Amino acid sequence: MSAIAEGGIAVITGAASGIGYALSEEALRRGMSVVVSDIREEALAAAAQKLEGQGANVLAVLADVTSEENILALRDRALERFGKVNLLVNNAGAFVGGLAWETSAAQMDWIIDLNFKSVAHGIRAFVPQMIAQGDPCHVITIASAAGISVYPGYASYSPTKHAALAITEALYLDLIAEGIGNVGVTVVMPGMVRTDIMNPEKSSPTSLGLDREARHANATVRAIESTMTSALDGAIAPEDLARRVFDAADAGELYILPNHEGETLTMLTQAIANGRATGTNPWPAIMAGMSTRMFNKAE
Ligand SMILES: NC(=O)c1ccc[n+]([C@@H]2O[C@H](COP(=O)([O-])OP(=O)(O)OC[C@H]3O[C@@H](n4cnc5c(N)ncnc54)[C@H](O)[C@@H]3O)[C@@H](O)[C@H]2O)c1
Repeated sequence: MSAIAEGGIAVITGAASGIGYALSEEALRRGMSVVVSDIREEALAAAAQKLEGQGANVLAVLADVTSEENILALRDRALERFGKVNLLVNNAGAFVGGLAWETSAAQMDWIIDLNFKSVAHGIRAFVPQMIAQGDPCHVITIASAAGISVYPGYASYSPTKHAALAITEALYLDLIAEGIGNVGVTVVMPGMVRTDIMNPEKSSPTSLGLDREARHANATVRAIESTMTSALDGAIAPEDLARRVFDAADAGELYILPNHEGETLTMLTQAIANGRATGTNPWPAIMAGMSTRMFNKAE
């Protein structure tokens, strides 16, 4: 039985727009009840209203994923209303271009909290509950192709998406090592998706003073952000991505590379196959050796 099924309860962060909103609609289409969460109050209320208009069982919870307290409160509100949680989607995130030596300490702290530590908070808050429930459950992290690649101007985004990928792989391995079979794990590494991702100012703390014009005074940052913004026009629609993500998670896939093709897909697939020691790729000798030492048994 799948966690993404009629009667299941989904909690989705960053759900006021883009991929999070599309995943919420897709969850409803599949008969789940949905807890939508975001840091932007008005946008969240509008999103929830639109979802409720589809006759759905929706709860909106204002939460800043950079705060562990907010994530714990989000879990508690979901449990209060629905009594259980079957699916957590760690989706909230942001991209801001910047050179490695120009990204401020404050901006780096914010993006680490938002793109990486939020995933750790989500796992810590929800997975023990899922294990205790014992029914089919699933955790999905929306990382990025930047979780296994780096480009100029990606000094804050790529490291945090690498970390989001790694902690999700760690969750996957820990569940196997602990013999816990009811919680599935999937990490998604999309390329460009047609969303509001290139407008980080909408949800960043004003104290950071993010300023596109100031960033674009640098030719490299201007070039990368402009190229990405132009690429949004021809990018995959979030609704299409949402369908693929749920289909693949439903099929129990750990890694999803949903909208890459040709040379890029080959490069990313090889990067996963050759570069990651997760026991799902050509590193079995290392994994077997470690398991033998840890559990004193042959694989
Ligand atoms: N759009 C793309 O091309 C693309 C590609 C790869 C990965 N991603 C990832 O997909 C995820 C969703 O992004 P999107 O493309 O839908 O962009 P988006 O800007 O439309 O959505 C992000 C949502 O996260 C919310 N958010 C931001 N900070 C938050 C916080 N502190 N607490 C709670 N919510 C917060 C925003 O308000 C927004 O609604 C992100 O993690 C992003 O890195 C996007």
